[in-house]
Amino acid sequence: MLSKIKYSVFLPLIAITLAGCERTERALMEDPGPSASQPADTQPADPQPKASRPAARPPAHVAAQAAPQPAIRSIPAQAAARPAPVKTPFAVRRCINLGNTLEAPNEGEWGNRARAADFTIIASAGFDTVRIPVRWDQHMARRAPYAVNPAYMRRVKTVVAQAQSAGLGVILDVHHYDDLLKYTARETPKYLSLWKQISETFAANRGRLYFELLNEPTLDISNDALSQLYAKVLPIIRERHRTRPIIIGGNQWNYVGRLDEIRWPNDPNLIATFHDYGPHEFTHQGASWMNPPIPRGRTWGSKADTAELSETIGAAISFRRSYSRPVFSGEFGVINTVPGAQRAAWLRARRIAYDRANISWCVWDYAGAFSLYDKENRRWHGAELSAVMGR
Ligand code: GLC
Repeated sequence: MLSKIKYSVFLPLIAITLAGCERTERALMEDPGPSASQPADTQPADPQPKASRPAARPPAHVAAQAAPQPAIRSIPAQAAARPAPVKTPFAVRRCINLGNTLEAPNEGEWGNRARAADFTIIASAGFDTVRIPVRWDQHMARRAPYAVNPAYMRRVKTVVAQAQSAGLGVILDVHHYDDLLKYTARETPKYLSLWKQISETFAANRGRLYFELLNEPTLDISNDALSQLYAKVLPIIRERHRTRPIIIGGNQWNYVGRLDEIRWPNDPNLIATFHDYGPHEFTHQGASWMNPPIPRGRTWGSKADTAELSETIGAAISFRRSYSRPVFSGEFGVINTVPGAQRAAWLRARRIAYDRANISWCVWDYAGAFSLYDKENRRWHGAELSAVMGR
């Protein structure tokens, strides 16, 4: 989620010309991307628990905010790593994140528990997939072989089954594993063991299920260490899931401009994810976990704002073209203290841009701090839902 921060820093520095925007528009039209012909693959009311989330944000966010960020640039292919064009089956089109649920240290601590009814509500609204962030590391033994607490594993399995029973595909990730980012060498065996256990647990799952290796790696971990981690964990998963689409992203909170900095494993079924919260001063205004705090009141819709969106889409398309990988906006959203009409305007512009560029997306989030669903009153925020659904 750092696309957010860096925009604030570097956008004013980028001269974004109208010609540049036109180029991006043309690119949107010309490059439907590999996902264009993708076949479908086989297959309550606490809107704001943020106050009780003191440690949710890694301190590196703060550092990153202060550091000047590189501008989004067009992404050259790493010749050696460039795979032959692939048709990766990735049937995600309209996805929503189950934020603040299994993402909390313990389910319920950030106000949300998953209920079967949530998935019916999500499917009925027109979503085809739900991304379920899971904070596994808090539920694992400290010593090798680092067993995941069986009750916790059963709980995740139940939630996945509930979502699939409602007809939804599921993206299962590893969220908030901060120790892995800070103490990578020490934590690697635990991380590898985690994916082995997840792989075993879901080995027989024939529904639409996607694995996402690591949410929002930050600059605490080097590109090299991150690439090594991906290279080590992939074969472990592939033992049991030979062709299941696996989602991986770049450094700096899955920033689109860093997708090309990792070494892409030679695996035809990888999906490239990026997170898109630009500009951060708009989407994260007043967020309790931001330090220093971002003042409220920023509106969205200036020329620079729409140009920033074009830049983001342009970078995603450029990566896709160079690397022949489907790209996926795995998180985008606006905090729910922003007035509905403004949130809807931002969400609509994003969704239109993604759809035109044939980029799959997953809005953040269902009933957390960026909620599209109002659990208290049991109804969707109408303008925001229409914005992402194109109604
Ligand atoms: C990231 C964080 C999550 C946060 C979201 C929006 O996914 O992991 O906790 O709510 O971004 O900031």
